[in-house]
Amino acid sequence: MSRRSVRKYAPGQIADGELAILLTCGLYAPSGGGRQMPRFIVIQDEARMQKLNRVIQRLLLERQGEAETMPMLQKGIRRAQTPGYRFAHGAPTLISAVAPRGYENAMADCACALENMLLAAESLGLGACWSNQPHWLTKEPEVRYIFEEIGLNSEEDIFGSIGVGRAAENEEKRTADPRKEGRIVVDAKIKTKKNQGCNSQVNGSSYEKPSI
Ligand SMILES: Cc1cc2nc3c(=O)[nH]c(=O)nc-3n(C[C@H](O)[C@H](O)[C@H](O)COP(=O)(O)O)c2cc1C
Repeated sequence: MSRRSVRKYAPGQIADGELAILLTCGLYAPSGGGRQMPRFIVIQDEARMQKLNRVIQRLLLERQGEAETMPMLQKGIRRAQTPGYRFAHGAPTLISAVAPRGYENAMADCACALENMLLAAESLGLGACWSNQPHWLTKEPEVRYIFEEIGLNSEEDIFGSIGVGRAAENEEKRTADPRKEGRIVVDAKIKTKKNQGCNSQVNGSSYEKPSI
């Protein structure tokens, strides 16, 4: 629960040992059918990261027309308009989870692996934040080319990425936003009328807030 997205980083790279732990946690994430389909592509080279950043910024600015049909893109495009734009907030390491295009569990498997790594980063005292731009732009040849240079296959897409680094000293840890109500239903906490069928029990039920 203490994990929060970090969007301001101190200069310097994370240690190789820290990267190894993060990646191991990604490798050991659950995967559909235990098939271990996601692979992880890591960018730490500063010049490559800057090139990727320039490409992402230009492509996002070119997609302004699509923002209305993809609301999540709007914020991303607004950010790309700001001077000094850095899609991963200046994190020195980017870990992208890739998987075969069209594989039914690709997104779920990649998200599990990335979340494992986000939690591992927190437990190592590192800062991290999901960056969705490489996923949005995974079909763009210029983005693919950068990832293909370091191992992306033509049959794979990027399903998610996280930036990782050391949080800047002046980056105060935010408290989490209040959690939205009504997102949990526990069957044992539903008051039911005795001796009624399942449907009518649920229809006639009231819900007690669980103590979690
Ligand atoms: C699928 C997904 C995509 C996200 N994309 C971005 C992103 O592109 N840039 C960003 O700064 N944060 C991104 N985030 C982080 C969320 O904004 C963040 O998790 C949310 O605001 C809650 O804050 P917390 O992580 O500090 O709890 C993404 C998170 C998820 C799960």
